[in-house]
Amino acid sequence: PLISSTSMLQQARENGYAITAFNVHTLEMLQAVVEAASETNSPLIIQSTVGTVKHLGPEYIAAAAKVAADQTGLPIALHLDHCTDFATIIQCIRAGYTSVMIDASMLPFEENIQRTLSVMEVAAAAGVNVEAELGKVGGVEDDIVVDERDAMLADPDDCQLFIERTNVLTLAPAIGTAHGIYKGEPNIDFERIAKIAEKVEVPLVLHGGSGIPAEQVRKAVSLGMSKMNVATELRIAFSDAIKEVFTKSPEENDPRKYMVPAKEAVKRLAIEKMELCGCIGKA
Ligand code: 13P
Ligand code: ZN
Ligand code: NA
Repeated sequence: PLISSTSMLQQARENGYAITAFNVHTLEMLQAVVEAASETNSPLIIQSTVGTVKHLGPEYIAAAAKVAADQTGLPIALHLDHCTDFATIIQCIRAGYTSVMIDASMLPFEENIQRTLSVMEVAAAAGVNVEAELGKVGGVEDDIVVDERDAMLADPDDCQLFIERTNVLTLAPAIGTAHGIYKGEPNIDFERIAKIAEKVEVPLVLHGGSGIPAEQVRKAVSLGMSKMNVATELRIAFSDAIKEVFTKSPEENDPRKYMVPAKEAVKRLAIEKMELCGCIGKA
């Protein structure tokens, strides 16, 4: 069965590595990250945004993720990424998601606390983990668009207070990364990560994983980030491989053929990210 993300994230936090959380959009992408985890004996978080939930339906996604967990026997959690609305959270928990993110980061601090608490109440009843966000991660993720000028880093004291008030078990503090590919290098505030990690014991989530240079990922993880979300780079790898097939063979019409290199590309990239995060062999 799928498991809650709580224990795998806590183990990661205690032992100084991070769990890779991959956004998937198709069955092949889901299978690719599962094969990556299976070949490397890694714990895994499969995640989908609200857009993908609408595209595929949460029941289809949960059923496929459940097959993955049952067939591999690996610790696999299914997570709802960046959700702003309560109804979708309930719908996904009903479908079998074992982890949800309530993104109320655009709201004032106190309202963020209240929203997080109300999600935690329903999630607790279902044994589902909750991730909350503080500060604002820049860039574009699905329908959530945050202008770089509006991106706001999380304050370490706020993080501490937020955890004291909510007891939420997973926190995504904005620390300078952004969704999508960076123009140049990301401007990660490593000192801030260290301060936050000193003040709160819960696993911390690094959003905007695509495009962060390898050594910066390692550093962020060593300072206390215990989950890294990767979306855009996987999408690009998947789509580029398909484009290449059609450039060479415009007549190709068999998804069982043109999806093969796409799956392979996603799997390779997923293993690379797992290596950076240090979660290989931790299943
Ligand atoms: P990237 O698209 O930059 O990998 O960000 C992923 C993410 O944070 C999903 O929540
Ligand atoms: Zn994100
Ligand atoms: Na990014």
